[in-house]
Amino acid sequence: MDLSLDGFLSDAAERLVKAVKDRRQAMHTPVVGTAEGDLRIMVLREVTPQLTLRFHTDLRSPKCALIGGGAPVSVLAYDPDVRIQLRMRGEGRIETAGPIANAAWDRATASSRRCYLAETGPGGVLEVAGSAIPDHLLHRAPTIEETATGRANFAVLLVEVRSLDWLHLTHEGGTRARFTRASASAPWQATWLAP
Ligand SMILES: Cc1cc2nc3c(=O)[nH]c(=O)nc-3n(C[C@H](O)[C@H](O)[C@H](O)COP(=O)(O)O)c2cc1C
Repeated sequence: MDLSLDGFLSDAAERLVKAVKDRRQAMHTPVVGTAEGDLRIMVLREVTPQLTLRFHTDLRSPKCALIGGGAPVSVLAYDPDVRIQLRMRGEGRIETAGPIANAAWDRATASSRRCYLAETGPGGVLEVAGSAIPDHLLHRAPTIEETATGRANFAVLLVEVRSLDWLHLTHEGGTRARFTRASASAPWQATWLAP
């Protein structure tokens, strides 16, 4: 690995890109935090070269109203095999229409679209335990045609990373680097930190 500050930023980006492609990577499912203090696991779907993270979500879930067109979002990823923590903060936004959301929906398989067919959105109260998926789809995957009504519930969460904290903690001590930038198009400022 390149041991310069730039090398550590590249390492973080490479780890996240690898985690998108490989669901066995712990960083495939980071913790996503919203400004009111709540946290939840989400599947990391894409990392662009500009370090914008893409997640998929149900528009009816409370975090979509909280984040809306722009709000602070934090993302925490940890790989226990190598003991590396990536702690990110950025500007989040929810998109329901437009090329990114449309392409994400078009590429989604019928089985991954299934959850958007639930009759009650995430966090809605149910009379009995269950998923709120319609009865006729409880025990089989929907056809791609049957998923069409789910599109109205589908949204992407995009997080433009503005700060990234890279930490490797070891018995001997460890290494920590912090990268910050004022906007997605601004240059990164980097520094080493005590772990
Ligand atoms: C392994 C795992 C993966 C998940 N992936 C997603 C996801 O990609 N998108 C999502 O919105 N919720 C995902 N969830 C559910 C969220 O953690 C959370 O319960 C849900 O989004 C509720 O919405 P809220 O955070 O707005 O209350 C996942 C949960 C688990 C356990």
